[in-house]
Amino acid sequence: MCGIVAYIGHKEAYPIIIKGLKRLEYRGYDSAGIAISNNGALSVYKKQGKVSNLEALIAQESVQGTAGIGHTRWATHGEPNDINAHPHYSSDGKIALIHNGIIENYDAIKKELINKGYSFRSETDTEVLVHLVDDISKVEGVWYGEALRIALNHVVGAYAIVAISPDFPDRLVAARKSSPLVVGIGENGEYFCASDASPIVEYTKNVVYMEDEEIAVIDRKEGLKLYNIGDQPKTPYIQKLELELEALEKGGYEHFMLKEIHEQPRSIHDCFRGRLNAEKGWISLGGIRDYEQKMIQANRLIIVACGTSWHAGLVGEYLLEDLARINVEVEYASEFRYRNPIIHENDVVIAISQSGETADTLAALELAKSKGATILGICNVVGSSISRITDAGYYTHAGPEIGVASTKAFTAQVTILTLMALQLAHKKGTISQSRFHELLSELEAIPEKVKQILAKNDHVESISKAYKDASNALYLGRGSSFPVALEGALKLKEISYIHAEGYPAAEMKHGPIALIDENMPVFVIATQGNSYEKVVSNIQEVKARKGKIIAIVTEGDTHVKAMADHVIEIPAADEVLVPLLATVPLQLLSYFIAVMRGCNVDQPRNLAKSVTVE
Ligand code: G6P
Repeated sequence: MCGIVAYIGHKEAYPIIIKGLKRLEYRGYDSAGIAISNNGALSVYKKQGKVSNLEALIAQESVQGTAGIGHTRWATHGEPNDINAHPHYSSDGKIALIHNGIIENYDAIKKELINKGYSFRSETDTEVLVHLVDDISKVEGVWYGEALRIALNHVVGAYAIVAISPDFPDRLVAARKSSPLVVGIGENGEYFCASDASPIVEYTKNVVYMEDEEIAVIDRKEGLKLYNIGDQPKTPYIQKLELELEALEKGGYEHFMLKEIHEQPRSIHDCFRGRLNAEKGWISLGGIRDYEQKMIQANRLIIVACGTSWHAGLVGEYLLEDLARINVEVEYASEFRYRNPIIHENDVVIAISQSGETADTLAALELAKSKGATILGICNVVGSSISRITDAGYYTHAGPEIGVASTKAFTAQVTILTLMALQLAHKKGTISQSRFHELLSELEAIPEKVKQILAKNDHVESISKAYKDASNALYLGRGSSFPVALEGALKLKEISYIHAEGYPAAEMKHGPIALIDENMPVFVIATQGNSYEKVVSNIQEVKARKGKIIAIVTEGDTHVKAMADHVIEIPAADEVLVPLLATVPLQLLSYFIAVMRGCNVDQPRNLAKSVTVE
């Protein structure tokens, strides 16, 4: 949430910062702003709404300078308007800063500063910080970087900050706690800072992921120096980015979401590449090999996650319990962390997170760690905070996911959970050798089956037309298709703003059935498997109330076809693997419905992709 980007070097800063902000816009698009330092002064521009609004504002200006900071905001304190937009700056215009996070004790600090005569332009917590830095700098007679370090010792909360001052034209100062920050090291004294590596990769592959409570003094003449907030120097650990620039482009698709849906045959394959060999009959999950025994013997596996990742966790629960017979609980990270959960040393807590930065998931893990549990992670973003604090884990290797609505990250998470369940089941002996081999082969065939579903793109688009004006929708599934129903409903509501709910099919009778009439589309996962007949009965119940049925069925199904208003066939697969297939047409349906309604599918209103505030 909130994206920050900064540049100092020998090129014009403005184009680099604007481009960076566009890459980070998935983190929030309530407002955008920049501050560029030039000839002893700062030029600050801020505009409500998307980065393109800021660009339009600046179009007639000549913004020059080789150092600057930029911000794209997801509003927490203060409504999204020009004044609350970052950067915020001191009264004399000599210090400006951008911030991602929340200053929890801002109110108390603000009162003290008001008593000292400071006046505030905005309602934000960030402006408090800039006046505090200004005040410390003046009172203590220290430069603004040192003042920032002292200020951060008074601050409670989360932050990724970059500050700039025209009085120190060769420097930027950056700091982080709980919100991500990456420093890119270019050539000849060129440096970049950003919330993730996407604005940096075009210029350099050498990066330093800042740790909590670190401050970086970035000086184009003297280089990068790192300190902790106690002022002790630290050695920067330079890593090579594996990210490729093409992965951040739309590649000919109209939207990132559609591109990412269509990438799934590759992303699922990349997820098990090198980890699965069906022919030889093995799974190798290097990341957690040392923890396999611990997982098998664990009291419980507790999966913590938010949003779509939580849905993946629910699929994981079905898989791990069914195949490996291990007790699994799936928790919303935000609830888990605050309800004094019972955690034992022999519990294994697994966080699932695309971004690896979700504040609640991170905090849930920290809590579990403090109670002595083993903590593991399933993350997509390499080098993310969760991947760094966990004892071990897996990367999903889905590649950058830019559309705010998660698609390929979900199927990659489910793929990892399937591998995990199969491996533990195999080790534990809870599935036969022949079933293990059979499921490995089936899993290997999934990318090809996803391709076959994606080939029905146009068929799904034509079905979508019939439902684009719906006000409500219901999604039903049983067993591991229940979380798929939840995920289908979430996809529809987040990008098309149609109210949608996912339910276990049988639970429909306990409430949602009251909503069914001839205007209600009901999306049902009715693939062949143990509960097929029961789902068919649920379809009858919907039909009896004149609801519209859109069914996801197994290829060749004629029974449901005769009852449904529309069907989308998916290739036959073992029930265990159906979530990986049934999810895909639901993603496409949501996508097309949202496009037909004229919604911005990649950047739905009020949402952000990386939720770094609790
Ligand atoms: C936000 C995103 C969702 C995502 C959730 C959890 O709400 O919009 O797509 O599922 O955060 O994010 P994570 O990065 O932890 O998977």
